[in-house]
Amino acid sequence: MLIRSQDKDFLPPPASEITPRAVWQQRRQLLRLAAIAGGASLAPWASQAAERPGKLAALPGARSSLPGATTPEPLTPYADVTGYNNFYEFGTDKADPARQAHRLKTRPWSVQVDGLVGKPRSFAIEDLLKLAGMEERIYRLRCVEGWSMVIPWVGYPLAELLKQVQPLGSAKYVEFVSQADPSTMPELRAGVLDWPYTEGLRLDEAMHPLTLLAFGLYGEVLPNQNGAPLRLVVPWKYGFKSAKSLVRIRLVEQMPRTSWNLAAPREYGFYSNVNPEVAHPRWSQANERRLGEPGGLFAKRRPTQPFNGYAAQVAQLYTGMDLHRFY
Ligand code: MTE
Repeated sequence: MLIRSQDKDFLPPPASEITPRAVWQQRRQLLRLAAIAGGASLAPWASQAAERPGKLAALPGARSSLPGATTPEPLTPYADVTGYNNFYEFGTDKADPARQAHRLKTRPWSVQVDGLVGKPRSFAIEDLLKLAGMEERIYRLRCVEGWSMVIPWVGYPLAELLKQVQPLGSAKYVEFVSQADPSTMPELRAGVLDWPYTEGLRLDEAMHPLTLLAFGLYGEVLPNQNGAPLRLVVPWKYGFKSAKSLVRIRLVEQMPRTSWNLAAPREYGFYSNVNPEVAHPRWSQANERRLGEPGGLFAKRRPTQPFNGYAAQVAQLYTGMDLHRFY
């Protein structure tokens, strides 16, 4: 993002964090063979069911049947999903969150949901985990820096939570605020961004069924570096809209200021829909590198799709808007 290009920053996470690729491949192969031996016909994604890495507490989710909620593309390996992160509160290097985020204290945890709502309320994480049925959704995540991943998230639509507090007619936007605790987050002192990390969506974007409140990935609770104990995932927008480790959700009338927009308004707009036609002022957004693919840095880049491939589901939210102006 504002900081540096990502590729040269990559440092592998500690070996203890990684399930060796050979082990993964072997497990997948075994699953495939078992399915064939059992006479099962393989659905396109059956061979890549999000197998638990066995590192954190289980958080199962039924595979979502919502159109667009599951891409058949191969999953990005767990080691990349959890070892190559942006979580600036823990450092600006891609390997910092995996090294530092063990300091985050995820219990006790509560989320204040307030602002222009009929029933403002603080939700304990234990209640949030039970609020709606957990689903597994396989989303592409496209970072504004030009890389992408395919991640099996576990969570439920943010709309399920917003319904609970009864948004008022005057609420037009939703502001999302991440945890900012100087005693556990070393980078808060550095002032890279205006803390707490703050993001925003229009209310209709927030209520869209693809907008996910995620509590887990790969069938387990979220690793701290991915935004434990709960985060937002908005698959048609650049990754920075998906704020991690949420503590407050506020419904408001005016478009909220967001951390990245405050830091560099010309570079990071409020909407930040993935758009191959609108270049970042310093680099193209026309294509992307899929992390974890064979070939590493030299793997062929793939074309970026409008709305990150979710146009059929979300393009109508922006009918009549000039997406070059509202970037
Ligand atoms: N949320 C907080 N609180 N702090 C951050 O630095 N980084 C964002 C987003 N959410 C960030 C954040 C960016 S730039 C991206 S690309 C995604 O988280 C990365 O999510 P991942 O590390 O789980 O892949």
